[in-house]
Amino acid sequence: MDSSNISQLYCAGSKATLSVAATWLQDELTTIHLEIGSSRGDFLCSLAEVNRNHRFIGVEIDQAKCFLAVEKAVRLKLGNTIFVQNEGYDFVSKNIPNGSIAFLHVYFPTPFVVAPFFFEKLGNEKFFLEAYRVLRPSGIFRIVTDHEDYFSEMQAALERSKFWFTEWTSPGGNIPEGYYVNTPLERKFRREAKKVYYFNLVRS
Ligand SMILES: C[S@@+](CC[C@H](N)C(=O)[O-])C[C@H]1O[C@@H](n2cnc3c(N)ncnc32)[C@H](O)[C@@H]1O
Repeated sequence: MDSSNISQLYCAGSKATLSVAATWLQDELTTIHLEIGSSRGDFLCSLAEVNRNHRFIGVEIDQAKCFLAVEKAVRLKLGNTIFVQNEGYDFVSKNIPNGSIAFLHVYFPTPFVVAPFFFEKLGNEKFFLEAYRVLRPSGIFRIVTDHEDYFSEMQAALERSKFWFTEWTSPGGNIPEGYYVNTPLERKFRREAKKVYYFNLVRS
């Protein structure tokens, strides 16, 4: 798809996208999902297809991946989904009001930082405080990772937070038996029979 065909609504990082996000975030009656590290949009688009009355905001730092996610949303005619090209913590702290998000998704967050001056790892206390702030009461925060050390690091930080730890609850959509989120990385790790860890957190 040619970039000129992409509707203003979906333009990653554009002012138009940010103003759509701002309008959606004011609407307390609609269920809003936020995914950080949404990559090429596979997870969010598949959930958006079967939850047309919910709204979905994906945040991805990589411009090329974000552009592919935008193309996917346009191809599937998902008027309930936008993707923003931004660093996750930066976007959340500057753009998301208190108590506006029903579901926060972070799947296979990058366990290392290539350019710490540009962005930080997401699985730290600073990001978790923001996650708590933006979730609605009883909102759900799901994290999935294959990385044991990163899992332990996140667990230590989350134990100091006000989140409640619960058993896994499926996000819904097209998730095969035995999978948590069916993202491209989960499919890869399941094929390799690699252990996958999760947090299913509830905002108190
Ligand atoms: C390992 S991939 C996982 C992608 C997808 N969630 C999945 O499960 O297949 C992590 C993604 O998060 C993005 N990412 C990493 N750190 C980020 C940050 N701080 N803010 C926004 N995106 C980030 C990366 O560019 C990459 O697309």
